[in-house]
Amino acid sequence: MPKWLDNAVFYEIYPQTFLDTNADGIGDFRGIIRKLDYIKDLGFNALWINPCFLSPFGDAGYDVADYYTVAPRYGTNEDLKELFAEAHRRGIHVLLDLVPGHTSVEHKWFRESMKPEKNEFTDRYVWTDSVWEAPESLGCLRGISQRDGSCALNFFTCQPALNYGYNERTRPWQQSPEDEGPRATLAAMMDVMRFWLTMGCDGFRVDMAMSLVKNDPEGEATIALWQKVRAFLDREFPEAAIISEWGEPEKSLRGGFHMDFLLHFGPSHYNDLFRCEEPFFSDRGLGDASAFVEKYLESRKKAGKDGLICIPSGNHDMVRLAKHVEGNQKKLAFTFLLTMPGAPFVYYGDEIGMRYVEGLTSVEGGYDRTGARSPMQWDKSVNAGFSAASTEKLYIPQDPDPDRPTVEAQLTDPDSQLRQVKTLISLRRTHPALGNRSGITFVSTGAPKQALAYERGCEQEQLLVVLNPYREAVTFPYAKVLGEPLYTFGGEASQENGTVSLSAVSAGIYKIK
Ligand code: NOJ
Ligand code: CA
Repeated sequence: MPKWLDNAVFYEIYPQTFLDTNADGIGDFRGIIRKLDYIKDLGFNALWINPCFLSPFGDAGYDVADYYTVAPRYGTNEDLKELFAEAHRRGIHVLLDLVPGHTSVEHKWFRESMKPEKNEFTDRYVWTDSVWEAPESLGCLRGISQRDGSCALNFFTCQPALNYGYNERTRPWQQSPEDEGPRATLAAMMDVMRFWLTMGCDGFRVDMAMSLVKNDPEGEATIALWQKVRAFLDREFPEAAIISEWGEPEKSLRGGFHMDFLLHFGPSHYNDLFRCEEPFFSDRGLGDASAFVEKYLESRKKAGKDGLICIPSGNHDMVRLAKHVEGNQKKLAFTFLLTMPGAPFVYYGDEIGMRYVEGLTSVEGGYDRTGARSPMQWDKSVNAGFSAASTEKLYIPQDPDPDRPTVEAQLTDPDSQLRQVKTLISLRRTHPALGNRSGITFVSTGAPKQALAYERGCEQEQLLVVLNPYREAVTFPYAKVLGEPLYTFGGEASQENGTVSLSAVSAGIYKIK
C-alpha cells in the first residue's frame, strides 16, 4: 500500500494547455517542469498528467498510437523522465494516464489485427467473425480491412476496443477473459505499466477502468481483472498507486484500485453539488446535498477502510466548476473539497476559478469539453503568459474576458481563491483529522436551505467543518462545544443552547472541545 497516498493532494494537468515553452501554441513537459515550484508552493504533492503518448489526437490523446513513446509535441521520453526526477526532488509524485480499454486505429496492434491472416494480434481487439455481424450494444468499425469481421468500439469511432474477453458469452467469437488473446492483452498492458514505472512514474489514473471485460453488467469479471493488476503492482511496484475512472467505489476499490473518482456520471450525486441548475453551492438555497451524503456514506461502508474515494474539483471532461458555482460559492466549494476524506484532486485552473469558455469549436475530439480545456491563465501578458505563439496559434482559444482570473493577480491578493486554496491545503496537511484516511461523521446533510456540516477525526484530534452556501443564516443542533476556529470565511459560527448558527454564505473549520 503506497504510504504517500495518506497525505497526497493532487493537481491534474492537461498538458496541451498548461504552459508552452517553445511558442508552438501547445503546452509541453518543459512547461510543467517550469511550474513545479508553483505547484509545490500551493501545497500539492502529487500530479495526474493526461495522456501524453504518440497519438493522432482524435480524442486529445485518449487514442494512443504507441504506449511507449511520448508525443513529440510535449517533448521526448527523456524529458518526461526529467519531469519525474524534478517532481520527485520537490516531493511530488506523478501519475500518468493509462488508457487500457482501447487504442487509436493507428496503433500497430490494430493494423496487425486488421489483417486476414492470423497473427499475434488477431485476438488483441474484440472482433466478430463476420463483417455482417456487429457486436451487440457496442458501436463498431467494419468494411475497413480485408479481415472478415467487425471490430467493437470502446468510445469514439477512432478507438477500437482491446480484447479482455466477455463475462457472459452468447456468440462463438466472444472469448473468455481466461482465453489466450485476452490474457495477452492484459499482459501487454502490464508491460506498459512496468515500462513507465521503471522510468520513474508513480502510478496511473486509469481511463474507463470499468469498461474492460464486455457483457459484465455487475463488473465482476472486470473487478477480477483489476485484482490481478493490483497483485502485479504489489509484487513489483508496491509504492505505485492506481486511481480509476469508474465512479463506483464499491466496485473499483474491491478491484484493487487504491482510489476511485466520484464523477459527473454514475450514481454518486456528485453533480448535485457543483454541476446542475441548482447546485448545493449556490446562495439560492434550492440545491440539495443530502442524496450525495447518503450515497457517499453507503459507498464508504461498502468500499472498506483502505480505499480512497476522491472528489475532484473538475476534470477535462466536464464543464468548469465556475460555470455553475459563482463568486464566493467557489470558496465554499473548495472548503468542502479540501476537507473531505479521500485524496483531493484539483483540476488546473480551478484554483483561480478559471471559467468555462462558451461556444468554442471542438478541438481534437473535445466537443463541449473544449471550453473546460482552455489554456492556463498565468498573468496579464500576451496569451495570459501561457505561450509566446501568436494568439491564433493557441491550441484552444482563451477566456476572452479582459478580467479573466490569473495566477499572478491572485498570488498577491490575500482574499483570492488561490490564496484560500493554499491555506486550506496547508491546514489539511498539518491537521491529521483532515487527512485522507481520517474519519467523517455528518451532523447536517445539506438539505435545501440547510447547512452541510461534518466532523473529521482521528486519534489525535476532532474537527468540525461547517458550510452554509445559502444567502440567509441557518442553524443546526449540535451538542458538542465548538472550540478554536482554524479557518473561517464569511463570519464565525456562534453556538447557544446546543444550536450552531452560521451566517449567510459562510464556512469554517473548528476544533471540537
Ligand atoms: C475518459 C477520458 O477522461 C475522456 O477524455 C476520453 O474521451 C474517454 N475516456 C475515452 O478515452
Ligand atoms: Ca510547446
